[in-house]
Amino acid sequence: MKIELAPSILSSNFAQLATDAQAAIEGGGTILHVDIMDGHFVPNITIGPPVVRSLRKVTKVPLDCHLMIENPDLFIPEFAEAGADWISVHQEACVHLDRTLHLIASHRCKPGVVINPATPVEMLTEVLDLVHHVLVMSVNPGFGGQEFIPNALNKIAHLARMRAERNLEFRIEVDGGIDPSTVTDVVKAGAELLVAGNAVFGHGDIRHNARQLLEAARAAALTRA
Ligand code: DX5
Ligand code: ZN
Repeated sequence: MKIELAPSILSSNFAQLATDAQAAIEGGGTILHVDIMDGHFVPNITIGPPVVRSLRKVTKVPLDCHLMIENPDLFIPEFAEAGADWISVHQEACVHLDRTLHLIASHRCKPGVVINPATPVEMLTEVLDLVHHVLVMSVNPGFGGQEFIPNALNKIAHLARMRAERNLEFRIEVDGGIDPSTVTDVVKAGAELLVAGNAVFGHGDIRHNARQLLEAARAAALTRA
């Protein structure tokens, strides 16, 4: 499994989004993680389809849209049309999760499912064969710069075992509190798509931060094999 860094633009300077995103890609980011919050599912409001549309014009890397919103079915077509490549929805926000994942796929986007820290991996048993990626939240969603919740490691390892046992191919993504001090453990546990906001954009040089995280992650992957 290929280790990839997905810089989360939530912590970028939105007044110079294209420049910051480009710097993160030059530092080795191969996916841009875009956090969509509605002020209902999570206690924060961020951005919507117009920003996805603008980002689409300045980069070719996959746009990984993490929907932290209620009633995601209402907005999936618009995010797809704006240029999202991957769309993930929270298990906790979807009454008809199977239908929602098929809706994402019908718009030619890669469907992903997300679980909050308090949601057990078992809640996903019946949809693991439908998803391109499973996103394990390692903070309670809503804000960047929070502290990593260590139980995410057990959940990642559990998912990796389920994937091997059932011979499935979904990718395992982790989001929240990923920095040089936590990245080694999450990669060893089995995560391969690493979302990082604050650690990439929060301080210092964006290219350097991205490169450093990716190097630590790749070194950890070597010890895992
Ligand atoms: C939190 C978001 C994350 C956030 C991660 O609700 O889903 O993607 O940007 O930020 P850091 O890496 O700062 O924890
Ligand atoms: Zn996110």
